[in-house]
Amino acid sequence: MEREQKLFINGEWVSTGQTHHVYNKYTGELFCEVYKAGAHEVNHAVEAAEYAFKHVSFPAEERAAVLTKVAQLLRENVEDIARCIAEEGGKPLKDARVEVGRSANTFQLSAEEAKYLKGELIPSQASPNIGSRLMYTIKKPAGVVCAISPFNFPLNLVTHKVAPALAAGNPVIIKPASDTSVCALKLCELLEQAGVPKGYVHCLVGEGSTVGEMLLKDPRIQIYTFTGSPGVGKHIQETVGMRRTILELGSNSATIVHEDGDVEKAAKKLAKMAFAHAGQVCISVQRIYVHQRVEKAFMDLFIDEVKQLKVGDPLDPLTEVGPMISEKEAKRIEAWVNEAKEAGAQIAIGGSRSRCVYEPTVITGAGKGMKVVDEEVFAPVVTVTSYETIEEAIRQVNDSKYGLQAGVYTGSISLAHRLPYLLEVGGVIINDTCNFRADHMPYGGVKDSGMGKEGPHYAVEEMSETVTVVVNLDE
Ligand code: SIN
Repeated sequence: MEREQKLFINGEWVSTGQTHHVYNKYTGELFCEVYKAGAHEVNHAVEAAEYAFKHVSFPAEERAAVLTKVAQLLRENVEDIARCIAEEGGKPLKDARVEVGRSANTFQLSAEEAKYLKGELIPSQASPNIGSRLMYTIKKPAGVVCAISPFNFPLNLVTHKVAPALAAGNPVIIKPASDTSVCALKLCELLEQAGVPKGYVHCLVGEGSTVGEMLLKDPRIQIYTFTGSPGVGKHIQETVGMRRTILELGSNSATIVHEDGDVEKAAKKLAKMAFAHAGQVCISVQRIYVHQRVEKAFMDLFIDEVKQLKVGDPLDPLTEVGPMISEKEAKRIEAWVNEAKEAGAQIAIGGSRSRCVYEPTVITGAGKGMKVVDEEVFAPVVTVTSYETIEEAIRQVNDSKYGLQAGVYTGSISLAHRLPYLLEVGGVIINDTCNFRADHMPYGGVKDSGMGKEGPHYAVEEMSETVTVVVNLDE
């Protein structure tokens, strides 16, 4: 167990008068005491970030070198950091190792973006009466970035904010989820080791009501990048007004298994991806719509796969489903499932809880008006509903306040290419589940699932200022 973890502000490791206790999410034992920031530390970080933005040079070539070095350091420290993710986040060790690998890749992708950051030549004859003019754009860093990250990917979702911010040339202040903040601070150690200039990275752990609010209200910050609940996302947008935001919010993502799809492959993959990290993933499979002709075959295979999932201690290398982030959250989903049962839904498998561990649970006969369908469950719970026509399946997928990603299993090329136009989501995954993300792809939703795209190329764009240059060649 780590004894204590200091905050990282303006290139220094800082202790304060108060600590936040970070627990091992499975055993409940104390894992680490992290120092908590207050008003003084927030002000210090923002002041230093603004100073760095205005006065400390960090050219693209150096940014690329630092980001590449962090990628290398992450690869050298996989076991140590994966263990930290497993202890403080409750993520099974094998998935935690994947997360560290993904984070290294996200740093590497961001390093490439820093190298090739460029504006474009604007065709000068596309509008009438322009005369003889050279027109082009340049990219400039947009300002200080505030990165507010969730507990479910305590490393890679910090990375998806920090690495593009630095690639674009912006200083960044991280506010990680307090309960999984040790990973974010470990990442700061690697950034320091890689030579990030003083003032370009800060990490503040603290209460949303104090530290979070101060950060949102500080006019010296220009961009907010956030992953978390729609409620907090809306509050951020309302508070920061005209300043820029990238908001990755919740979802009750769906996957369709059509009659012409590969039912066996679908059943195997859905059983894995509906319960990965105990369903605590924004694109986790929450609703499965299966064509009635293949429903029985699908259900038999699916339930069989779910039965085989190994549930338990995330540090056991064989574990596939670990605990939820807290007993409170496990009790919340237990109440939602009981509510669905009382309203007429059936539990095909699962439905019980032991402390913070909720069993992988499959519900049939659920419908609109039940929280397990309408709200984001963020838990190892999935509903399966049959449909008669593809139009009906599309209508049900779209009948949601969210719209992050959807998956579809189909053998029809034409259906596969038509569905992205018909589904109200930010990403359509054909012949795989909605729980798919490659770190370089544009990632982000519509409706209450948020706005703006992550993925280094797209995030660097969002965090850069495009300046138009027009040169009158006649003068
Ligand atoms: C998320 O929960 O939004 C992140 C999913 C991922 O990066 O795989």
